[in-house]
Amino acid sequence: MKIPLIKLYITEGMKRRVGEVLDSGMLTEGKVTAAFETGCRDYLGVSHCLAVTSCTAGIEAALRCLGITAGDEVIVPDYTYPATASVPMLLGATVVLVDIDPQTMLIDYDAMEAAITPRTKALVPVSLFGNPLDYDRLTAISHRYDLPVVEDAACAFGASYRGRRVGGFADISVFSLHPRKFITTGEGGLITAERKEYRDWLWSYKHFGLAATGSREAARFIMPGTNYKMSDLLAAVGLEQLAVAEELLSRRQELAARYHDLCGRIPGFELPQTTPNGVHSYQTCCVMVPERDRLLTRVRQQGIEVQIGTYCLHRQPAFQPGPRCRWADALAGSAEAGDRCLALPLFHDLTDAEQDAVVAAIGRG
Ligand SMILES: Cc1ncc(COP(=O)(O)O)c(C=O)c1O
Repeated sequence: MKIPLIKLYITEGMKRRVGEVLDSGMLTEGKVTAAFETGCRDYLGVSHCLAVTSCTAGIEAALRCLGITAGDEVIVPDYTYPATASVPMLLGATVVLVDIDPQTMLIDYDAMEAAITPRTKALVPVSLFGNPLDYDRLTAISHRYDLPVVEDAACAFGASYRGRRVGGFADISVFSLHPRKFITTGEGGLITAERKEYRDWLWSYKHFGLAATGSREAARFIMPGTNYKMSDLLAAVGLEQLAVAEELLSRRQELAARYHDLCGRIPGFELPQTTPNGVHSYQTCCVMVPERDRLLTRVRQQGIEVQIGTYCLHRQPAFQPGPRCRWADALAGSAEAGDRCLALPLFHDLTDAEQDAVVAAIGRG
């Protein structure tokens, strides 16, 4: 591809840090991962942050921490990456797919509230593409029904709402560090929480069920747990990325603003809306276009890697109605995003000329 969808940010410093870990003889989770967790905690302005092997693993840990089990209902937006809905289903719960607002591509808060039943045990909204949720509305619903929120913040590292970073609003938030996210460790995830009891439970769960306090010599396994530790090798990459996170974030925001300015002038194109009082982190920069699939093929033929936004779950075989999956409504907003959303190439060193070429190609149709 002449212009890829993403480019990785890899530096000599990163290679040096990974080399240092290799030389240290300590390849599993150790001091480097601890430093990465602390760095992310401070960057996000949250009380607790744990590194895990992926966002998917983190969502599973978070739902288990809240006791989600067979027979419970968990509300998830229909327009998201399948992991958001797969995890509660794998735990035996029923996932209730709720529509989105196609303007923001975030969960429709009224539809979410209408889908709550006595069996609902958790809300799992998604700050999709880096657009922060409307936490005022979300928190009001969560309090009204006394339901915990696990935020799938896979894409929202760096996004903020009313001046505070995403990560501190939900009961538990989970980020992805997959290479399509703007800071990455190759594979990996982060879980954030304010409550120490959640942090301790999650810490134990990711460390084979070990008690969160106490010496290694007198190890006490207090619950069945698993291994979701992040290797120091991966954390070394993450630490270097974290050091330039602000720089990468503002560059993405600049490029997204320029895309919006240029794409907003193309007849028939519509720009997605950022949540009021929110700052978007643009993990993905999208535009709503007519005949998206035809455009996708034509533009790719020109060497420009455009992509769909994400998936309408109700169109996937795994999420057809049944004992583990219920559709709350007609999911028309999700279908609209599924048909029209086009993700544009976005990376730190995308040039104005490359951006102009992308816009010209999509504008020609
Ligand atoms: C909204 C959303 N949730 C979950 C995931 C899964 O993240 P991971 O690959 O870190 O498990 C992704 C990955 O793209 C995502 O976009």
